Amino acid sequence: MISGMQAQESDLRRVGLHPDFWHPLAMSGEIKRGGMLGVSFAGEPIVLCRADKGEVFALEDRCAHRQVPLRAGVLCGDAVRCGYHGWAFGKDGRCLTVPNLGKGEATPRGVRAYPCREAYGLIFVFTGAPEKAEAVQLPCIDSAADPEYKTRFLSKRINCHYSFMHENLMDMNHQFLHRRYMGSIQPLLLKVDRGEDWVEGTYTFNRVAGRQSMGEKFMIGPRAKSASAHEHDLMVIRTRYPYQTLTFCRAGSDKPALDLWLSYVPVDREQRVNHSFGLMMIRRPAVPGLIHLFWPFIVLFTNAIFGQDQWIVEQEQRAHDAQGRDMNQEIFPIIRELRALLSRSGVPINL
Ligand code: FES
Ligand SMILES: [Fe+2]
Repeated sequence: MISGMQAQESDLRRVGLHPDFWHPLAMSGEIKRGGMLGVSFAGEPIVLCRADKGEVFALEDRCAHRQVPLRAGVLCGDAVRCGYHGWAFGKDGRCLTVPNLGKGEATPRGVRAYPCREAYGLIFVFTGAPEKAEAVQLPCIDSAADPEYKTRFLSKRINCHYSFMHENLMDMNHQFLHRRYMGSIQPLLLKVDRGEDWVEGTYTFNRVAGRQSMGEKFMIGPRAKSASAHEHDLMVIRTRYPYQTLTFCRAGSDKPALDLWLSYVPVDREQRVNHSFGLMMIRRPAVPGLIHLFWPFIVLFTNAIFGQDQWIVEQEQRAHDAQGRDMNQEIFPIIRELRALLSRSGVPINL
């Protein structure tokens, strides 16, 4: 029997991510000049091409002739030649040349071209209706361009629906999962804010027992000297559809010690796999160069935490697949709000 709670909500794991946004599909460093990279958005194959001058463009990764992947072809200047019969497609997707085409025969149709932009070390593609692209803004990630911060790039394929990722980060009550690395800390949700396309939770933490780990210590730095006893460290987690951010400010400081930006992009048509892209900005300590000394600890620490999160969200997806529907008893109000936001902002998955 389906409970009242579940009956009110459709199955979020069957809601597709809305394509009418700038979704990151690769990191800039993955494509050299003259190179191509095959990626996908919700099962749609896309080839990213970096022309000789460095500009990146994105095409449907299916030759208009016999549907083979263009990524297996050759990039010549800013045209892609399919590896089978050598048809050439321009960066706007038009078919430019067809070898051996008889005189008087019309040039065949081309392939879909996607609006594409590069920023913050990521390649963003507008996967929805192209005419909407101009009106939709790229995400704004201020700290990524701020020299006071050092950035770590995250890029990982994770076997779960993107919604599990949003829920996992928003739900600070899962620190028990990280007890080995975080010790006993108790999250306290101070407030929830919301808007039409966003929901945000502000937390603080009490350390009940145990010490800060090295990575944790280096990531967030010392408490500001000016902080008074009633000021708390604050962690703000926000899903502004379709992206998610986490900022952590030490008590008495309004400049984040840690600023995290994340995007979870569905890979397959069923949206049971996502590629998570992230930028993790750590504020540099006052002593120049000190961050490079701490960096290996920060990397180890975050890898350990993210590894646990990946394992648990993939378990959640497996349970959903085995049970055939969402059997979660979600009782935490902020997560229920987040689920409602993701549901109403998404699109049906067309299989
Ligand atoms: S299949 Fe691409 S040119 Fe023939
Ligand atoms: Fe976690």
